[in-house]
Amino acid sequence: MATIVMDIIGRLFINVQQVRQMPLLLTPAAPSMPATLRDIEVPRYFREVHVHSGYRPLDQTWSYYLLSLFQRHNETVNTWTHLLGFLVFLLSLCCLAETVDFVGDPHAWPLLVLVVSAMGYSGCSATAHLLGSKSELCHHLFFFMDYIGVAQYQYGSAVVHYYYAVEESWHARVAGVFMPAAVLLSCLSCLGCCYGKFCSYSLPTWVRRVGQVTPSALAYAWDTSPVFQRLLRWSAEDDEVALYFHLGQAVLFLSSAFFFTYPLPQRWFPGRCDIVGQGHQIFHVLLNLCTLSQIRASHLDYLGRRRLYSRLHGDGEAGLFVGLYVLTVAACVLIAAGMVVKVRRMLDGKAQKCK
Ligand SMILES: *[C@@H]1O[C@H](CO)[C@@H](O)[C@H](O)[C@H]1NC(C)=O
Repeated sequence: MATIVMDIIGRLFINVQQVRQMPLLLTPAAPSMPATLRDIEVPRYFREVHVHSGYRPLDQTWSYYLLSLFQRHNETVNTWTHLLGFLVFLLSLCCLAETVDFVGDPHAWPLLVLVVSAMGYSGCSATAHLLGSKSELCHHLFFFMDYIGVAQYQYGSAVVHYYYAVEESWHARVAGVFMPAAVLLSCLSCLGCCYGKFCSYSLPTWVRRVGQVTPSALAYAWDTSPVFQRLLRWSAEDDEVALYFHLGQAVLFLSSAFFFTYPLPQRWFPGRCDIVGQGHQIFHVLLNLCTLSQIRASHLDYLGRRRLYSRLHGDGEAGLFVGLYVLTVAACVLIAAGMVVKVRRMLDGKAQKCK
């Protein structure tokens, strides 16, 4: 027994070693590409604590940043993790479309909104990590776009949980307010995140984090409340497979939030996780898995709870929720645009001072 365990541990270790060598394979796409820099060589604003090297130079051409997808730098893995997530969500949309009538069956629309919103957040995030290093303005612009992605995904989660996962008792309490509140919380978390980034000069990091995390945590608690209520009432007789996937998505989300909040493991190994191993990368992977579990759970609920949800959600409600999704995206775009104007003004002011 002990030898088998040792053997497995030994193999795992070799695999981990291979993963650590991966970045060496990512050689620069073109030999002419500028080399990456150390943290002290980029403006203070762009530095990340505990990440010492792998910074791409600023003010290069767009094609440089696009091609840097194949270069080894501090954002390569952050970009790829969400790019692959995007492709997997696209693939699951295609698979679902083979059996689910997304056009003719209004009860399938919330599921469609979820998968589209998942593609939205992963696509926005991959773009932000790839292109956000061009300049300070671009950094703000693309990360604001990332926050729009997150906010509209919060709405996507709310709509499937409220539509398919909700129990009759919770529905009776929150009907009528649940979705409008979800829209509001999405907008608030978009605003909180954009504002936090905007204030990166004036406020200490922990204050900004609280301003960013509080609205998002509230949104998560509200949007997922139908699932939590169902999980809490889970009894031995229940053998719904969907519940396992709901449990999975909750556990994966909470663990991803941990890695979003704490800069681990790079704090323990400063300078050694510059390319692979940053907590943010772990956050991306866990969030992708959480979304996959959520899509599976929602699909199972869509198949298995039709009697209940078609009674709870009358005609036209699905269409209304699609409309609210479009409204949420539009409102978040406006919020981010307003913040971009503020950033522009601030950066112009800073440039004036330097003259
Ligand atoms: C990576 O470097 C860019 C500058 O090229 C910087 O904007 C970004 O914050 C850094 N990210 C990480 C995770 O170190």
